[in-house]
Amino acid sequence: MLTIDEAKGQVTVARPDGSASVMAMDSPEAFAAVSSAWLRCGWDVKYVYGFTWMGRPIIQLPEDLIRIQEVIWRLRPDVIIETGVAHGGSLVFYAGILAAMGNKGRVIGIDVEIRAHNRAAIESHPMAGSIELIEGSSTAEDTIAAVRARVNPGETVLVLLDSNHTYEHVARELELYAPLVSPGSYIVACDGIMAQVAGAPRTNPDWTWNNPISAVEEFLERDLRFRLEEPGFAFNEGVVRERVTYWPKSFLRRIDGAPA
Ligand SMILES: C[S@@+](CC[C@H](N)C(=O)[O-])C[C@H]1O[C@@H](n2cnc3c(N)ncnc32)[C@H](O)[C@@H]1O
Repeated sequence: MLTIDEAKGQVTVARPDGSASVMAMDSPEAFAAVSSAWLRCGWDVKYVYGFTWMGRPIIQLPEDLIRIQEVIWRLRPDVIIETGVAHGGSLVFYAGILAAMGNKGRVIGIDVEIRAHNRAAIESHPMAGSIELIEGSSTAEDTIAAVRARVNPGETVLVLLDSNHTYEHVARELELYAPLVSPGSYIVACDGIMAQVAGAPRTNPDWTWNNPISAVEEFLERDLRFRLEEPGFAFNEGVVRERVTYWPKSFLRRIDGAPA
């Protein structure tokens, strides 16, 4: 149970075993406890279903977008591959950043079903010139063949997995898409929040294990080319050191052949 006493500047976490931690509000620990409750409340009220980017709905926590923008700025990718298009907001977001950087980069979006109105809106968007859509399951053989055919040797490639977030599907996506990631870049397994919100409305009991983090942990045991590596904050004059995120334990960096 979380108690916030703004007058005292204190946050208290009381645990089922009777123990409690009292934290000063200006501590990163207090911020983490409040953020965790805020994320849970945000899940229940569908907070992330309330944003657009350049006119297209984007189903993401705004902080995750700022953080991935920092990564894109640093990496300057030639290609961003995203599984899970939905309304296309994230594709437009990535394409817009690449365009603003003056980079000739392009974005490849894959979805098992691209609804006609979403396709029409994405294809007529000002960013459409640098977005390619592939319709099909992200793990289908012909889909991955189509993606591979669009990536040239030596290109800097960033991959985001935001389609079906079950353990099995993400595990297969990691296997198929990780080889496309260029050294030093990342494959990002989005929505590991599932484990944290298991038990809340619109969740399943198996989310405690049936989630992207389980797939990430298993993948890292067998593919030593990657490690879990939080992208450092590009700017930080505060005391917070951890992201407030729907994407915990998501950034897998390709370390073989990567610049130090
Ligand atoms: C969370 S939404 C994507 C949100 C989007 N990236 C954004 O930021 O706005 C998940 C999408 O994954 C798609 N999807 C589900 N299973 C899939 C699969 N096997 N292959 C590809 N896409 C899939 C769904 O159709 C849905 O559009």
